[in-house]
Amino acid sequence: MATASRRLHRFTRTERAVHWVHASAFVILLATGLGLYLPSLAELVGRRPLLKTIHVYTAIAWLVALVLIVVLGDRASLRATVHEIDLFDRDDRAWLRGRRPPQGRLNAGQKVNAILTAVFALMFALTGFFLWYGERNTRFRFAQTILIHDWLMYISFVLFLGHLYLSLINPGTRHSLNGMTRGWVDEDWAQAHHAKWAARASSDDA
Ligand code: HEM
Ligand code: HEM
Repeated sequence: MATASRRLHRFTRTERAVHWVHASAFVILLATGLGLYLPSLAELVGRRPLLKTIHVYTAIAWLVALVLIVVLGDRASLRATVHEIDLFDRDDRAWLRGRRPPQGRLNAGQKVNAILTAVFALMFALTGFFLWYGERNTRFRFAQTILIHDWLMYISFVLFLGHLYLSLINPGTRHSLNGMTRGWVDEDWAQAHHAKWAARASSDDA
């Protein structure tokens, strides 16, 4: 008789809150940003100023929500996650060279994705601020600002599509969605994809 796989706790509530606040804001900013970027889409919606207002207020709500989660949430778990992402051990480096040694809670590709996400968020916020402020004070209007904002959008759009494929479609990896929604994953899946973490987590839970 097959025995049910144990559940391993994967992401804390605070980590999940950061992820979903970031993801929701990103999707609204991407949709409204594309509306502003593509003249045909702006005409279709017929309300460019409204799109711009939603874009800017979503950006503000996103920053406020992230600060609130950090202030009110489990900061120790966020600190541990940042430390974990920051650390590339020998297995991570081998993974980036195309080998597949056992990985920790996040594999090296996911660590790179997390770093890019954080760097891009800062650059979006900075260039977005100058786009907004440059309209009010021409000394802060720079020709490159919109180009950088656009390029961040192109690259993060591609990363986002890859991320959606891995978390929603690809049969081998889509069980991870359980970890980001309910907080836990099956031990069997964890052992197959994140063996070093699975060994640690199952002894912690025992
Ligand atoms: C803190 C975050 C952000 C802020 C403050 C911000 C702010 C702005 C502002 C003020 C504009 C100029 C609107 C106009 O006058 O046409 C703009 C345009 C735009 N934004 Fe953002 N934005 C942010 C994040 C994002 C994100 C995450 C994306 C996409 C993933 C994005 C995509 C775009 C696009 C495509 C445009 C149109 C650029 C063009 O017309 O070439 N923005 N943004
Ligand atoms: C809206 C649809 C989205 C879904 C369904 C989704 C799903 C997931 C899942 C299931 C994980 C956990 C992966 C694991 O346990 O191994 C995850 C992690 C992560 N997500 Fe998302 N996500 C979405 C949007 C986003 C967006 C828009 C961003 C950033 C712009 C983002 C950034 C991240 C990062 C940095 C991680 C941790 C590293 C990684 O797994 O690559 N996600 N996401």
